[in-house]
Parts: sequence; C-alpha cells; structure tokens
Amino acid sequence: MLRTPAALALLLSLLACGEVEPDPEPYVQPAPWEQLNFEEREEFMTWVFSPTMEDLFLAEDPALYDGFECETCHGDDPHYEMPAVDVIDPLTLDDVPVDSIDDPERLEVALWMEETILPAMADMFEQEMNLEGASCLDCHPFE
Ligand code: HEC
Ligand code: HEC
Repeated sequence: MLRTPAALALLLSLLACGEVEPDPEPYVQPAPWEQLNFEEREEFMTWVFSPTMEDLFLAEDPALYDGFECETCHGDDPHYEMPAVDVIDPLTLDDVPVDSIDDPERLEVALWMEETILPAMADMFEQEMNLEGASCLDCHPFE
C-alpha cells in the first residue's frame, strides 16, 4: 500500500479537502423505547420511528402527507409531548369502536390507522396494543 509518493500525495490531498469521510455509524437502538431517556428517544424518533411512519403515511396518501416530518405529529412543541393537542385532530366517543364511524372518509382513515399505524407504533415501541401500551390516544387527544 501507499508505496509510491503519488499515492501518498493523493491520500494527503483527499484528507486535506475533507473528502475522505468515515462511513456514518449505523444507528443501534440502545434499549427498548420505554427505557430510553429523552435524548435517546429523540434519536430513535429521528432514525427509526419518524422515517418508518413517513413511509407509511406517504404510501397511504402522498399528496395529503407531502412534507411529513416531526411537526406532523408534534407541531413546534420542544418537549414533544403526546397526545399532540392542537396538532392532531381529537378523537371522540363517536370514533369508538372504529367500525361505528358514519362518515365513510373518516372511517377509511380510522381503519388504516387501526390496521397499519397503530400496530407499527406498537411494534416499534415494543408495547401491547391497549390503553397502557400503544393506543390511538398516544397521538390523538380525546374529547
Ligand atoms: C407519526 C407521529 C410521530 C412523528 C412523525 C414523530 N413522533 Fe415523536 N413521538 C410520537 C409518539 C406517539 C411519541 C410517544 C408518546 C408516548 O410515549 O406515549 C413520541 C415521543 C417523542 C419523544 C419523547 C418525548 C418524551 O417526553 O418522552 C421525542 C423526544 C420525540 N418524539 C421526538 C421526535 C422527533 C425529533 C421527530 C422527528 C424526527 C418525531 N418525534 C416524529 C409520535 C411521532
Ligand atoms: C403515531 C400516531 C398516531 C396513532 C397511533 C394514531 N393516529 Fe390517527 N392520525 C395521526 C396523524 C398524524 C393524523 C393526521 C393529522 C390529523 O389530521 O389529525 C391522523 C389522522 C387520523 C384521522 C383523520 C382525522 C381527520 O380529522 O381527518 C382519524 C379518524 C384517525 N387518525 C383515527 C385514528 C384511530 C382510530 C387510531 C387508533 C386506532 C389512530 N388514529 C391512531 C396519528 C396517529
């Protein structure tokens, strides 16, 4: 390796230009969601949760969810508190159970949430699907 001055010079020039970047470390989740501290949760959201959700939302309705990002669920809340009051529309008693929703468009969204979004969240958070674990009300306020 690097026996010729030319090769050495090339290497040095690349380093000098900062063009030799080490590969970014792949993200490794340090522990299940419930055990993560705030900073670790932020990283998990950034590398795993939000991109996965983005794919699911865009697959469902690319026009409606164009520009999907943290703000789609959290608004501009720096504490990322959930459920996201003022950001995500509230559910009401009329939405429970989901099959009883009258408006066909709302029913369609709710069924997609129930069949796709909620299980994906439960999977990523490693939680059961119930009120203590993963539920619609982790994201939606309830009125
Ligand atoms: C699809 C909705 C959704 C998106 C998009 C989303 N989050 Fe979250 N976020 C959640 C949910 C749900 C929780 C957890 C609520 C719980 O613990 O019950 C959460 C929790 C968090 C928490 C932990 C808050 C705490 O006090 O424990 C942080 C930090 C966070 N999100 C940051 C982000 C960041 C940064 C992004 C964008 C890269 C993002 N989120 C995108 C839904 C979302
Ligand atoms: C990970 C977060 C998350 C979970 C879990 C979730 N939702 Fe949603 N839901 C959203 C987001 C984001 C939207 C789009 C923003 C909005 O308009 O509320 C949405 C939209 C909806 C809408 C359309 C609202 C409207 O006014 O157009 C309905 C209905 C709905 N969700 C029902 C449900 C039901 C029922 C469940 C549980 C089975 C559920 N959601 C679980 C994040 C979530």
